[in-house]
Amino acid sequence: MKFLFVVLVIFVVVSPCICARLLPYIIPSFNVLDYGAVGNGKNDETQAFVDAWKDTCSAIHDSPTLLIPKGKTFILQPLWFQGPCNSTTVYVKLEGTIKAPNKIEAWKWPNNNEKETWIRFSEINGLIIYGSGQIDGQGAPWWDCYSNTNCDRPTALHFHACENLILRGLTHINSPRNHISLNACHGSHISKLHIIAPNESPNTDGIDIAESSNVIIENSKMETGDDCIAINHGSSSINIIGIFCGPGHGISVGSLGRNGADESVENIYVRNCTFNGTTNGARIKTWMGGHGYARKVTFEDIIVIEAYNPVIIDQEYNPYDSVHAVKVSDVTFRNIRGTSISKHAIQLNCDEAISCTNIILEGINITSSIGEEVHASCKNAKGMCTSCIPYVPCLSQE
Ligand SMILES: *[C@@H]1O[C@H](CO)[C@@H](O)[C@H](O)[C@H]1NC(C)=O
Ligand SMILES: *[C@@H]1O[C@H](CO)[C@@H](O)[C@H](O)[C@H]1NC(C)=O
Ligand SMILES: *[C@@H]1O[C@H](CO)[C@@H](O)[C@H](O)[C@H]1NC(C)=O
Ligand SMILES: *[C@@H]1O[C@H](CO)[C@@H](O)[C@H](O)[C@H]1NC(C)=O
Repeated sequence: MKFLFVVLVIFVVVSPCICARLLPYIIPSFNVLDYGAVGNGKNDETQAFVDAWKDTCSAIHDSPTLLIPKGKTFILQPLWFQGPCNSTTVYVKLEGTIKAPNKIEAWKWPNNNEKETWIRFSEINGLIIYGSGQIDGQGAPWWDCYSNTNCDRPTALHFHACENLILRGLTHINSPRNHISLNACHGSHISKLHIIAPNESPNTDGIDIAESSNVIIENSKMETGDDCIAINHGSSSINIIGIFCGPGHGISVGSLGRNGADESVENIYVRNCTFNGTTNGARIKTWMGGHGYARKVTFEDIIVIEAYNPVIIDQEYNPYDSVHAVKVSDVTFRNIRGTSISKHAIQLNCDEAISCTNIILEGINITSSIGEEVHASCKNAKGMCTSCIPYVPCLSQE
């Protein structure tokens, strides 16, 4: 043993190249078990996570790791992981399961009375969360209080002002409300997630994005009770690739302009996605009475399977007033194929005063999944259609 150690030391000393390869194994790791967590799925382990995070975030080595080990379940109260941290990259390796309290009465809110989120990461640059673990929001009791106006349901996992975030590989289940939200995060890469909540669970969006730019979301599967992904106000350069969505409400730009708000998004690119049994597919929705714009939006290489509204622009989403509207322009739906379960394969429902402009449909083939006729309806949409089944009467044809 001693001999082996000596050999190893000599080896490392004489071989800088091998030393570099060994480096990843000696980066500091802060295991929550070393901070008093037991992972029996019963105890409240919040304090252990708070303490482990404190050491992780203040570590001055490069790439410290907060480790949540495999085969263990940790019950956590609402918790903020606050930055900034000393290291330029901070890892959270989630291999076990973290769970919210299983009853609404059992949630303990922090003193500031902020009840919007369960797990929150804030102002951390170079945050990398990865692993094969699971985040379980135990949302069922919250879904039952959905119609009660006093019931403010929290987001399961929220990121605020995190630059260069990476989120990869985790399973997210049963959030009280939306599973993941990004706010003011620039340069995020989200991949290989599996998000699961029952079809009928209210507002359990997969990922909501707001005030963020340069976001990639790819190769993920989302089965939810609401939008798989919603792209909201202040978002730009958002790329969504290879998402399997269903059940759920599809991938939505908006809703924008609620209560007359001035809200804009641009440069949205959604490619190679499948919508299976979703209420919508490729959707842009704006409230009446809003201001701002949704422009340069492309949905491309999309397969729809028994979707209810496969292609939809809806500017009459929840009427408010009709004096103003969010401007929708430069929208392309290209190579969208498959089946619709309703007659409304394509709906372009735009505002009368400002209309939608430069709406391009190209290579659309949506047929009925139940052997009926399907049609396209439009109001106030201007643009062009090339090779569209069904025929879109309001757009000029090539
Ligand atoms: C690490 O960060 C903390 C605050 O988060 C700060 O007080 C401390 O001085 C930092 N340490 C170093 C060595 O930068
Ligand atoms: C399309 O997305 C699926 C996941 O839904 C992925 O497996 C496949 O590799 C993607 N193909 C391309 C060409 O991006
Ligand atoms: C679509 O969903 C249905 C019902 O859940 C399922 O049976 C079917 O296999 C799915 N199709 C694909 C291509 O995954
Ligand atoms: C449209 O799709 C239907 C059903 O998949 C198929 O039979 C038909 O050939 C397609 N039409 C074109 C022009 O691709």
